[in-house]
Amino acid sequence: MTKRVVTLAHYYTQPEIQQMADKVGDSLELSLYAREAEADIIVFAGVRFMAETAKILNPQAEVILPDAGSTCSLVTQTDVAALKAWREEHADYVHVSYINSSAEHKALSDWIVTSRNVDDIIAHLYEQGKKVIFSPDRNMGAYLNYQYGYDMPLWSAVCEVHDKFNEAALNEALNAVTGEAHLIAHPESPLPVLKRADYVGSTSGMLNWVKQFKGGPDAVIFVATEDGILYNMSQARPDLDLRQAPIYAGCQCNSCPYMKMNTIEAVKHAQQGGGTHIDYLSTEQMDAARVPIERMLEFSR
Ligand code: 13P
Ligand code: SF4
Repeated sequence: MTKRVVTLAHYYTQPEIQQMADKVGDSLELSLYAREAEADIIVFAGVRFMAETAKILNPQAEVILPDAGSTCSLVTQTDVAALKAWREEHADYVHVSYINSSAEHKALSDWIVTSRNVDDIIAHLYEQGKKVIFSPDRNMGAYLNYQYGYDMPLWSAVCEVHDKFNEAALNEALNAVTGEAHLIAHPESPLPVLKRADYVGSTSGMLNWVKQFKGGPDAVIFVATEDGILYNMSQARPDLDLRQAPIYAGCQCNSCPYMKMNTIEAVKHAQQGGGTHIDYLSTEQMDAARVPIERMLEFSR
């Protein structure tokens, strides 16, 4: 019998890859698609932690990552043994972890969040009088502490892509615009960049902001995130002057090397059953990691 193959792609993949996918979305949307997918094979054109999350949520499906090298710096910068010790030092805290984390990391967490629901979930925990520690993204945690006056102890890893955005290059670009200029940013960016932004949010949050933009016809919108989503933004609003935020003068060149490993050849190969099968997580590991993910999905329902 022919196997049912569903291909999922993140907004940061190249346009040709997005066109090969059944569903394109942010981390939260893709997790939900993966959980509900009636598929024998899920090809995940994204990065490894996303494919692992898909497998955890839909263990019956074969989940395939097109390129074995598609990792994420938030995962590789986190030593899980050190994280476990840190978690034990804060035994009376609730541990909230960003979805950009390994399955082992998730298993050490009480809640998983994505950039779409992190504000609401942490507000909910503070409303209940809980003390919270946040991992692994230091920039996102610093932004939450600044924005809401929290005092969460933070783990210290960064997204190597977003961490390159900086105030100096941004100021130069913003000051060079004579008319209306806006900045929207992903919360993985450094705090000085986020403080200047008109809007801070997930990839789909930024895309919606752009879709609904009602500013002047000459407005320039700088986007501090990976360059892949500029495709979706310009498809939705071809009338707007959308520019990726620079990391140095004249550069609109900040892309995620791991997302871009999803080449046409690698995705086609995976659709035929090749690539990296996410078949190395034990049932115990998946069961433990699923608890905080399901808690998030239930909350975001
Ligand atoms: P989103 O959840 O906003 O899609 O972000 C995923 C990601 O990896 C950002 O770098
Ligand atoms: Fe990880 Fe950053 Fe790439 Fe997102 S953009 S997958 S956080 S390295």
